Amino acid sequence: MSVRVALIVGSLREGSYSRHIAQAIKELAQPALDLVPVEFGDLPLYNPDLDTDAPPAAWTRFRKEVAATQAVLFVTPEYNRSIPGGLKNALDVGSRPYGHSVWQAKPAAIVSVSPGAVSGFGANHHLRQPLVFLNMPTLQQPEAYIGNVAALLDEHGKLTNPGTRDFLKTFADAFAAWIEKTKA
Ligand code: FNR
Repeated sequence: MSVRVALIVGSLREGSYSRHIAQAIKELAQPALDLVPVEFGDLPLYNPDLDTDAPPAAWTRFRKEVAATQAVLFVTPEYNRSIPGGLKNALDVGSRPYGHSVWQAKPAAIVSVSPGAVSGFGANHHLRQPLVFLNMPTLQQPEAYIGNVAALLDEHGKLTNPGTRDFLKTFADAFAAWIEKTKA
């Protein structure tokens, strides 16, 4: 049976390269993994004062969607050598109220995506830091840095580069094995 995995894309941009890569991984990961997109673009900025008995509806929606999965795949661009602010906000929203984090013990994996040659290395590693605190066992190998991404996609955003497809299939298989090994 397929494992339900939250697919969180760090970009809100229409036509996002990261989203195209996420879609390619979603296809390659089947049938072992069912990657279910969970969106964060509508989440108000985290403010503990709002985290009462009636928190913002978008926070509740987001928390429920992540809670209904067994693992999380992050596919993210790099903003200013770190992760986009919206993604950090999503991590914060999911981590509270204290003691009720939806991230707790969920296996995770990270793919960074960039049109540049540095391949989102800074984002990839900055994201690892909160995942340690959130107690998410995170796939170590293979690391996934997708650089020069524009050259890997066709005009419809489809991943056409055979080497990258093979690599992402290997990555998805390793993540499926990692989930089996580490899931709570
Ligand atoms: C960027 N970009 C970028 N790229 C990179 O490789 N390293 C970086 O530090 C940054 N910094 C950065 C900051 C901000 C605010 C923006 C908007 C962009 C460029 C970025 O990789 C490019 O816009 C990608 O297309 C973003 O990914 P998506 O939206 O295509 O998934």
